[in-house]
Amino acid sequence: MSILLTGGAGFIGSHTAVEMINAGYDVIIADNLSNSSEKVLDRIETITGIRPKFYKVDVAIKGDVRRIFEENKIDGVIHFAGYKCVPESTKIPLKYYRNNIDTTLTVLEVMEEKNCNAFVFSSSATVYGDKNEVPFNENMPTGGTTNAYGSTKLMIENILKDVAAANNKFSAVLLRYFNPIGAHPSGLIGEAPDGIPNNLMPYITQTAVGIREVLNVFGTDYNTPDGTGVRDYIHVVDLAKGHVAAIKYAMENTGAEAINLGTGNGSSVLEVVRAFEKASGVNVPVEFKERRPGDVEYSYASVEKAAELLNWKAEYDLNDMCKHAWNWQKKNPRGYNE
Ligand code: WQD
Repeated sequence: MSILLTGGAGFIGSHTAVEMINAGYDVIIADNLSNSSEKVLDRIETITGIRPKFYKVDVAIKGDVRRIFEENKIDGVIHFAGYKCVPESTKIPLKYYRNNIDTTLTVLEVMEEKNCNAFVFSSSATVYGDKNEVPFNENMPTGGTTNAYGSTKLMIENILKDVAAANNKFSAVLLRYFNPIGAHPSGLIGEAPDGIPNNLMPYITQTAVGIREVLNVFGTDYNTPDGTGVRDYIHVVDLAKGHVAAIKYAMENTGAEAINLGTGNGSSVLEVVRAFEKASGVNVPVEFKERRPGDVEYSYASVEKAAELLNWKAEYDLNDMCKHAWNWQKKNPRGYNE
């Protein structure tokens, strides 16, 4: 069974490639390397013993996507390709709308041409907006996204629902990720942000390794136990295994299903910092700052639907996530750049 991973050289894509190969699938990666490195392929090969077939292409270009389908018998697609930098998306929204929507439409059009009907999409908990109560469950209304990145995720979810309603052979699983962190336990693949990290864990690990001086903690006056924002951090390997279950589900079912991938537990920023210090033995200096615009107070998942439909649940705890993130950062202080 051959599965195409668009954006498969990125953080979540590369971990999913490993778990898909471990589960016995043939993996084909299409990635334009705009925010990833070809070295990932060597690392995937070291971990699994198998080198995925690789196409350096932009999946917004129809001819290139067609060529992949013509040269391979593709049974399903996991679509990671897309821009994901939240602050950049507020400054250059058209870049996000153009790329994220275009890549999705192109892949879907080629799938339709080639009669390929199983699709898994990288959506985000951000589609729950700021009006719902935690834990977020899949029946809650979506909307109220606070940035263009989040709006593209919501629009694509709606596109997929329409396509599934029109084509009774088509199946889409809309995976709503909570906060993926950690790295493969080998330390060979992990998160390699370009420039100053926006997300909490890479900022913590870069501070611990000495690249950044101090971690800014955004907001201390939230209505949470210690005043800092609460999120559902999930180990990227657990998240990757959720994709293995989701593509199987997509191949065996029809229709569009939104499914949360989270642990169901919330941790505050300060809890994550303390857990990291304990797991690494390294002190992380912090400075308390104003709230970051667009942030919600609480975000954590209801995990029942994933358990029921995918027979999947997260296994790793926050200590594992911190330990593995630190192992990756120590072994690769500059990501894939050295
Ligand atoms: C987590 C918590 C911050 C950095 C975003 C997107 C989401 C997904 C993941 C991306 C918050 C606090 C952070 C820092 C801090 N998309 N924080 N200091 O905002 O929950 O989710 O990233 O690809 O769609 O919205 O994740 O890791 O940025 O923040 O105090 O330097 O850490 O305020 O409470 P977020 P995050």
